Amino acid sequence: TPGVRPLVAGNWKMNGLKASLAEIEAMRKAVEAGEAGAAELAVCPPFTLIAAAAARLEGGPVTFGGQDCSPHASGAYTGDTSAVMLKDLGATYAIVGHSERRTYHRETDADVRAKAEAALKAGLVAIVCVGETRAEREAGEAIAIVSRQVRGSTPPDGAPDTVVVAYEPVWAIGTGLTPTAADVAEVHKAIRALLGEIYGAGGATVRILYGGSVKPANAKELLGIDNVDGALVGGASLKASDFLAIAAAY
Ligand code: G3P
Repeated sequence: TPGVRPLVAGNWKMNGLKASLAEIEAMRKAVEAGEAGAAELAVCPPFTLIAAAAARLEGGPVTFGGQDCSPHASGAYTGDTSAVMLKDLGATYAIVGHSERRTYHRETDADVRAKAEAALKAGLVAIVCVGETRAEREAGEAIAIVSRQVRGSTPPDGAPDTVVVAYEPVWAIGTGLTPTAADVAEVHKAIRALLGEIYGAGGATVRILYGGSVKPANAKELLGIDNVDGALVGGASLKASDFLAIAAAY
């Protein structure tokens, strides 16, 4: 999208031990050496590694975020992590509404929106995830489902600098399967139109990421599609070499 700096964000999910911090250091080194292309690189490690990752990324060009955040700023919410806490560590992003959260933690659009609003309130950028299941796609409902999720989960007061939308077809996550370029283009175009309805002119420059089995081998094709402003990468973000090879598509 013209005038938009692409974002290649890594979602480590529940992967990574202390030894994995070396990958984060390698990402920083490569970006600082100008080896990573023109996109912004961000990494979202598990909560256990965020403070250590923050120390390694401080003052550098690689940004970071959490994979989720509480809708609350603080309080008696055992096991949860707030956007305020992420911001305190220097985070830029909070992923909200990933399909794994929607499925395993039964998060609804309203839950996701509350988290996105908490992220914005704390000064973070919310990466709001949406995407249809295989059954929904086969039933011809992909656009309807994604539209419902975008309308229901995005923070009404956001955009264009504070909201990112990530389209991740559930059936493409971790499977090696990807939609056709035409299908990605169709969904991203629909999301772009909705963002215009929600945010007015600002919706034109909200970054819309594609996620789901993005690999070095398919990055150029997927990231070259209209209205694809970057990627949300799972498995291939765990190794700096793969992640950087994806970012090199820009
Ligand atoms: O959030 C990124 C993710 O769900 C995609 O995972 O492993 O298919 O790249 P993966």
